[in-house]
Amino acid sequence: MVVTRPHGSEPAQAARYNLGVYRAQVIGRDRLILRWLAHRGGAAHVRTWAQAGRSMPVAVVLGADPATLLAAALPLPETVSELTFSGVLRGARTELVPAKTVRLLVPAQAEMVIEGWVHPGETAPEGPFGDHTGYYNAVEPFPVMRVTALTHRRDPLYLSTVTGRPPDEPSVIGEVFNDLALPVIRAQIPEVRDLWLPPAACSYRMAVISIDKRYPGQARRVMMALWGMLPQFSYTKMLVVVDADIDARNWDDVAWALSTRMDPARDVTILDRTPMDYLDFASPVEGLAGKIGIDATTKIGTETARDWGQVMALDPVHEARAAELLARRGLAR
Ligand SMILES: Cc1cc2nc3c(=O)[nH]c(=O)nc-3n(C[C@H](O)[C@H](O)[C@H](O)COP(=O)(O)O)c2cc1C
Repeated sequence: MVVTRPHGSEPAQAARYNLGVYRAQVIGRDRLILRWLAHRGGAAHVRTWAQAGRSMPVAVVLGADPATLLAAALPLPETVSELTFSGVLRGARTELVPAKTVRLLVPAQAEMVIEGWVHPGETAPEGPFGDHTGYYNAVEPFPVMRVTALTHRRDPLYLSTVTGRPPDEPSVIGEVFNDLALPVIRAQIPEVRDLWLPPAACSYRMAVISIDKRYPGQARRVMMALWGMLPQFSYTKMLVVVDADIDARNWDDVAWALSTRMDPARDVTILDRTPMDYLDFASPVEGLAGKIGIDATTKIGTETARDWGQVMALDPVHEARAAELLARRGLAR
């Protein structure tokens, strides 16, 4: 868990801190490579220090309480502090103590804390390592951290994780993000009933959204809103929008909606040259990729000139009679 704060902030301003889970490669006795992707909080902070020509203080925390770890791993909006959010999850403030050699506060109960500096412009080639996509990453330059201290609890535990093609440990965290993100999404896009980020799609490359559809074009509006909402959703290259009667988390339901409510020529939106993480080597160029939005909702109003089929359903009277007959024979459903 990499702890940073922006240039111009004070160590006591914990609400301005960023916590992110980033890979760190050991390249010497006192040197690590910190691999924060360009859109991450750590990368944004190091830019503010470099612009001022200053080195950035950094602390790497190994093993903290679950609320702090979870807050650091979740792609929260930039304006939400992970330390504040972890306090909400825990129901109590995060206990912080000053680091020994850098002006930063760190979680008091951490197993180990590595302190040091990132000097402007110093990078080293990182990797190749396996990633949560199920592939090895390309070797890329990332910032170097110069270590000044390592502190730890007595008999510390070394917390690590196993990453690979989903399902892996991070994809379980992705499912937690799915549940926590839903109320936030619904606050901004109220017609959203459910959202599912399938773990098999690397937990963010694809999303299925069910909506309460009320007017023509609404599915496309929801696609645009979601892509624009959190930086994390700009990497969701496939969106499928379905009606509220479809279970977004059930592939059989989604396949039925795609097969019966979607026309490929009319209901597919393709965008070009939108942001994408460099891990997606299927993109034509690094960092820029297309997006596909599939509207598998029922077409209403001016969306279609044709009579739309009625969904088959059992008559409730017949259903009740069948249940009664089954119950009478001891075969209750
Ligand atoms: C086990 C694990 C490893 C991760 N490795 C990296 C990584 O090497 N680089 C990176 O940028 N994000 C990585 N992430 C994702 C970020 O930690 C996550 O998106 C986090 O929300 C980023 O926080 P930030 O937006 O405050 O920077 C990893 C996540 C987990 C759970």
